[in-house]
Amino acid sequence: RRSGGDRLFELTARPGSTELLPGKQTPTWGINGPFLAPTLRARRGETVRVAYDNRLPEATTLHWHGMHLPAVMDGGPHQTVQPGAVWKPHWKIEQPAATLWYHPHPHGATAEHVTRGIAGLFLVDDEQDAEERTGLPRDYGVDDIPLIVQDRSFADDGTMELRGASTLESFAGVGSVGVLGDTILVNGVHDPHLKVTTTLVRLRVLNASNARVYNFGFTDNREFHLVAQENGLLERPVPLRRLQLMAAERAEIVVRMEPGRTALLRSFPPDLGLGFPTDRMDGGQDTFDILQLRPARKLTRSQPLPERLRDVPRPVEVPKGATVRRFRMNGTQINGKAMEMARVDVVAPAEAVEVWEFTGSSDGMHSIHVHGTGFNVLEYRGRKPPARLRGQKDTVHVPAGGTVRLAVPLPRWVDTEYPYMYHCHVLTHEDQGMMGQFTIA
Ligand code: C2O
Ligand code: CU
Ligand code: CU
Repeated sequence: RRSGGDRLFELTARPGSTELLPGKQTPTWGINGPFLAPTLRARRGETVRVAYDNRLPEATTLHWHGMHLPAVMDGGPHQTVQPGAVWKPHWKIEQPAATLWYHPHPHGATAEHVTRGIAGLFLVDDEQDAEERTGLPRDYGVDDIPLIVQDRSFADDGTMELRGASTLESFAGVGSVGVLGDTILVNGVHDPHLKVTTTLVRLRVLNASNARVYNFGFTDNREFHLVAQENGLLERPVPLRRLQLMAAERAEIVVRMEPGRTALLRSFPPDLGLGFPTDRMDGGQDTFDILQLRPARKLTRSQPLPERLRDVPRPVEVPKGATVRRFRMNGTQINGKAMEMARVDVVAPAEAVEVWEFTGSSDGMHSIHVHGTGFNVLEYRGRKPPARLRGQKDTVHVPAGGTVRLAVPLPRWVDTEYPYMYHCHVLTHEDQGMMGQFTIA
């Protein structure tokens, strides 16, 4: 709902039940529906007002992943919404166009709440991404398609596997990242296809899985173009044939269609940088079909893909003498500590640009996500990052036995009471405490 410069979103979370697999009812959670949550959309400069009504049987939170906003509005583990309560955050959109998402973040139960079904996209629009400026496909549901990719395991009766979601309980088939599902859902749909009517299609891909890594590509090996990452458009499209995404990473790709010729988007075995047998246990040998794209016999001609997508906020400049912070990811801890709600790990000055370095253990699959901002990758494994990591990101792989060096522009909202989080987005690890807190002074 819209009123003046405000966007009003009324969201109600409830338990429900729906047919995710043919002929079976699966108990689920959802927002304004039985599974997943509606795509929210707002423009830079608008004020977002949300009323989040929690009719779930448990306390939860709702976190705006990738949004630049005050910590108290962030929906992290401190903004608990009790069953029956309504939470009303509000903020002004002050960041460039991007594909963001939202999901629960209750400390110790994030994986379980996301697995049950609470997750949705939040699209931010701005001037740059308006059709006349970039020419990118932007007709939602027609040539601009959201793909929320998740893996799940189902029992014969249709119930979802929840064991090992938020705990590292060990039972057969659980690797170091918790349960990996053997069934893929895209926007909550099993075995999906898309009818295509235009020559170019923009796919906004969100890896909303708890842990699984996807290595997307087409079965005919066709080229596609990466146009945006988590926190916004790239300076220019990057041609790729494969694109690997960790949990919570997003990418917007544009792919060319030929009339009447079906294209199959697949996930090929990802390179996790782990040795045997961890690699296999963590999904390094898995292949899944993701989506069939079925073009009509006659296609509407799209505008050509532009050479330049934006006058970029170039990679943020790191000032001389910038503070460098080092973090070691080990087991399910950061710098030898598990998350504690009452402990603040980092106090940083508002709007400073700092260098944060995350180093992975040689046997662990980890990522890092920083709340309240977007960052640039300065170095990945001691090298300049590859083109696919050069945009503004908010989640990135931490190489096993290597380091990722980030330029982090700190949020501008001073708040010494409420912290922001940084954490591994393998949700089982996060729930086990692979998370730290920072405040802005
Ligand atoms: Cu996607 Cu701390 O969250
Ligand atoms: Cu987040
Ligand atoms: Cu991890």
